[in-house]
Amino acid sequence: MADNDIILDVRSISKHFGALKAVDKVSFQARKGEIVGLIGPNGAGKTTITNLVTGELRKTEGEVYFKGINVSRMQPFQIARIGLTRTYQVVKPLQGMTVEENILVGSLFGRSDRQNDLNHAKKTAHEIMELVGLDKKKEFKVSDVTLPDLKRMEFARVLAMDPEVIFLDEVMAGLNPSEVEESMELVKNIRTEKQLTIVYIEHIMKAVMGISDRIIVLHHGQKICEGSPTEVCDNPAVIEAYLGKKYAKEVIKS
Ligand SMILES: Nc1ncnc2c1ncn2[C@@H]1O[C@H](COP(=O)(O)OP(=O)(O)O)[C@@H](O)[C@H]1O
Ligand SMILES: [Mg+2]
Repeated sequence: MADNDIILDVRSISKHFGALKAVDKVSFQARKGEIVGLIGPNGAGKTTITNLVTGELRKTEGEVYFKGINVSRMQPFQIARIGLTRTYQVVKPLQGMTVEENILVGSLFGRSDRQNDLNHAKKTAHEIMELVGLDKKKEFKVSDVTLPDLKRMEFARVLAMDPEVIFLDEVMAGLNPSEVEESMELVKNIRTEKQLTIVYIEHIMKAVMGISDRIIVLHHGQKICEGSPTEVCDNPAVIEAYLGKKYAKEVIKS
């Protein structure tokens, strides 16, 4: 793939909390339309990377380029408005509002060329609700919907911002196996439909391996491996740090 397909270029970013190197000189790139899995044990630095890339945390060092623009010193809302967004590991619905209103907030405050056009925002919100299967629940208050629907709604709210890159931070946590399957299908369909680039953070290995084009493995804030799902499963450092021997064998066999 040509270099001009690279939409996100993370260059040696670090975040130190006192003596703790939560993220330590991590570099990676993502291409347009690619799903990049970001895995590693709890505390490896996955959420911190998301916070650094989207501007929510100040980096100790390093730069982030999105579509060739250095976004390293931009505010989160500015970064989101040019198309680089994320979901939260812990859902953050806007309480007291309906599902539709939550998604509408995404379409109203998304890409800067769309602001203040309520009709357009409503149209976008409706299209996205159909796409993620929330159209029948649009009138529900967020307090009346289930966790899978809240996760779907958060994904929809980010999609309604019309992004080009999304960091999905453990969108499947707490879902049962059939809900995981549905969520995988949704992520794959949306990538295809919208030509999105997705950085996919997930502990459910079946999902990460099944969805990702390429996987990056973190351990103690450092990138310890990068490659195809099979390459990653075959890597001794990854097996030692995260996957365990039994799992790696099962994946390679299947
Ligand atoms: N605001 C913070 N202050 C201090 N330490 C933090 C902060 N946020 C995260 N950490 C620490 O940084 C490390 C990486 O955390 P995190 O990025 O949340 O990991 P992951 O998402 O991979 O589970 C952990 O050791 C965590 O305790
Ligand atoms: Mg996390």
